Amino acid sequence: MADRDGFEKVAQAGEIPEGESRSYAYGDGEVLVCRQNGEFFAVENMCSHAKSPLATGPVANEYQVKCPLHGARFDVRSGKAMCLPAVMPIKTFLVEQRGEDIWIGKQ
Ligand code: FES
Repeated sequence: MADRDGFEKVAQAGEIPEGESRSYAYGDGEVLVCRQNGEFFAVENMCSHAKSPLATGPVANEYQVKCPLHGARFDVRSGKAMCLPAVMPIKTFLVEQRGEDIWIGKQ
């Protein structure tokens, strides 16, 4: 359930090891929450190339998540496609850590 600012609690910080990502239900889709250098980032868990879920587990490169289907990578800070075959960005979301809870909001 969303708070009055539109944020929803989706995860516990301890569920996401440093340098890894995990997917969670959010709205009517999934969000991929990544932990990198102690910060949390969230992107839609849907590749912009052929609409396949992105990989969970270790983050592929610094601040990048990878699509397991054809290998496209996306920057989790901006959603920008970093290599072919994806050219379109993916959505990013606002992240707030409130104690141990990770809350996600729309940009
Ligand atoms: S579906 Fe992700 S790179 Fe093709």
